[in-house]
Formats: sequence, structure tokens, C-alpha cells
Amino acid sequence: MKKIVLNTYEELCLAAADVFSQQIKEKPDSVLGLATGGTPIGLYDELVRRHEAGELDFSKVRSFNLDEYYPIQRTHPQSYEYFMRKHLFDRVNIAKYSVLNGETDNPAVECKRYDEEIAAEGGIDLQLLGIGHNGHIAFIEPGSSYPMDTLLIDLAESSINANSRFFGADEVQPVRALSMGVGQIFRCKKIIMLIVGADKKDIAAKLFDGKIHADVPASLLLLHPDFTVFMDKAAAGQ
Ligand code: PGA
Repeated sequence: MKKIVLNTYEELCLAAADVFSQQIKEKPDSVLGLATGGTPIGLYDELVRRHEAGELDFSKVRSFNLDEYYPIQRTHPQSYEYFMRKHLFDRVNIAKYSVLNGETDNPAVECKRYDEEIAAEGGIDLQLLGIGHNGHIAFIEPGSSYPMDTLLIDLAESSINANSRFFGADEVQPVRALSMGVGQIFRCKKIIMLIVGADKKDIAAKLFDGKIHADVPASLLLLHPDFTVFMDKAAAGQ
């Protein structure tokens, strides 16, 4: 595991964008694993800026997102498909993107289909991750055991609360999600995680105390051979 501390969120977004740029330049038909949430928005803006400046071509790139609320309409402003279109997909020339279908009436079939689609595309080359305050990755919540394959998950109370800021008072917030499992995330060739803000300081410290914690799913990543964490100073407790 590598840890890189940047002074500001802006610097962190530039550093993470460099990893994506290098990946896409080295392998124009890369398969990317993408994440939602507040953290990656600045990174996506920087990737769009580089694309608009003619520096980054997504025309052969394919992508898979980590998770999606369930149930949710694709067109719902809080769906992760909507988020991704708004922040990235509709702003670059990406060849193909896949987001788990929150409209499905058969989640088990949809999850299996998703894992098979990722395998058929040759697996994910570069996976972007955030981390929840409770240590979740994707929507793999703290528990006593962890799923290997993509599945329908009950969200932890803390994740529902953390994400409630995105939902209006009159909007129904889903309490379940479709999410990649640990096996799928581990099969990614390279993983980068972004941790930003003083409110993530405690969970970041736990990630770096040299132990795999049963109640911190993110700490399993310490076993991955190519795992780099980008943090700002606030998250690093500096
Ligand atoms: P955030 O979410 O970027 O909105 O903090 C991260 C996560 O829950 O993985």
C-alpha cells in the first residue's frame, strides 16, 4: 500500500487525474472502475477539463460503477447513473459505461449479469474508491463477513445518514443498494482511494494502523498488491 498526502483537495484531484491520464494513455481501451459521492467530483471536473483541452481521449474507454441505490429510476437525480452522466459521462467521449440497474425487478440476476459483463470486458484496470466514515468501500458495509460477488445490500444506518444530505425532504431515500463485492474489487489490477476532509481523519488513521480490522471493510485493501491512497492534509490529521 502506498500513501500520498497532498496539501489541498485541488492538488489531490490533479494527482488522481494524473493516474487516470497515465492509465488511458498507456492503454487507450482501459476498463475503469468509477465511484460516486462528494469526493470524486473535483477529479471528474479535471478529467473533463483535460478532455476538453484535447489531452485525454475516452473514445475507447469503458467503465463500470461500484454501486447503485435500489430501487431507483435511472433518471432520478439521486441515482448514481444520473450523477455519473452529470459529472463525467455526458461531458467526455466515453465509449461505453455500465452502472448497475436500480430499476431491475430481479436484483440477483442483475448482479450476476454485471459480474459477467465485467469479466467479458477483461476485468477492471483501474478502480477508483472513496471510503465511508464507517470504513465501507462501495456499499460493502462493516459486518462479520464480506461478500465476494456483486449483490443487493442493506445500507448501514451511518451510510443512510451520511447520504441523506443529497436527498430533498420530499424525496424517498433508498435503504438498499446493489454493490460490487470484495472479490470484484480485488480483481481490479490497480486501485486508488481518495480520502478528503477532517471528518475522515479517524477512519483514515484506522486504515493506516497496520492491522486488518474486521469492522473496517476498507482495511482488506491492505492485502491488494497495487493499492494507493491519496489524502489531503485534513484527512491525514495534519
Ligand atoms: P463521500 O462518500 O465521497 O460522499 O464522502 C464516500 C463513500 O461513501 O465511499
